[in-house]
Amino acid sequence: MIGILCAMREELEPILEEVEVKEVVEYGKNKFYLAKFDNKDLVLAYSKIGKVNSATTATIMIEKFKAKKILFSGVAGAIDEDLKIGDLIIATKTCQHDIDLTVFGYPYGYIPESEVYFECDKSLNSIAKSVAKKLNLKLKEGIIASGDQFIHSKEKKEWIKKTFNASAIEMEGGAVGCVCFTLNIPFFMLRAISDSAEEGAGIDFDEFLEESSKVSAKFLIEMLKEI
Ligand code: ADE
Repeated sequence: MIGILCAMREELEPILEEVEVKEVVEYGKNKFYLAKFDNKDLVLAYSKIGKVNSATTATIMIEKFKAKKILFSGVAGAIDEDLKIGDLIIATKTCQHDIDLTVFGYPYGYIPESEVYFECDKSLNSIAKSVAKKLNLKLKEGIIASGDQFIHSKEKKEWIKKTFNASAIEMEGGAVGCVCFTLNIPFFMLRAISDSAEEGAGIDFDEFLEESSKVSAKFLIEMLKEI
C-alpha cells in the first residue's frame, strides 16, 4: 500500500483524476480514497493545511491503512533564487522552522530526543531524478522547511534560508517527515513552486495554486509508474 498525501483539495484532485478509486472511507473527519494505479494499491487523502493535520493524516495512513511508504505532492514557496513559479523540487530532508527552544541552548528546529532534519528516502528520490531526466524536466533537490505560517516576507524567508539552509518553504513536510521517521516509513516530498514567499506571495499563491498543483500531480503520477 502506498500513501499519497496532499495538504489541500486542489493538490489532491488532479491525482484522483488519474487513478481508479475503488472505495472512499470516512475516518477521523476526513476522506481516504482507496485506489488502484498501474496495479498498485494506493490510499490517498488531503489532510488540510498545517503540521498537525498532515501528521494526523500520515499517521492514519500508516497505522489504519497500512501504507508502507508516504509520497507527498503539493505546492511550496520558493526560497532559492533559481526556483521560479511552476518549478519542481524534491526534499533531501525536511525540518520545522517554527520550533524554538533556543532559550534552553538548543538550535532552532530541535526538540530534545528528536531531530532537526528528517531524511527523505534516497531510493524514491533517485526514481524521481531518473523520471525527470527521462521527461527532460528540471527537478531541484534541497532542504524543505515547514511551519504553521504562510511566509510572505523577504526578511522571514532570508532567516529560514540562513538558519536551516532551506531551498523551499511549506507547512507540512517537517511534520510528515517526523511521523515517517518515528514509524520507520520511507518518505518522499515533492513540491511545485506557487509563490516567492515574499511580499505579494498570497496573491501569487491564489493565482498559481491550481496550476502548480497540477505540475506536481502530473510528475507524481509519472513516478508512480516506476515504483
Ligand atoms: N506553501 C506555498 N507557499 C507557501 C508559503 N509562502 N509559505 C508557507 N507555505 C507555503
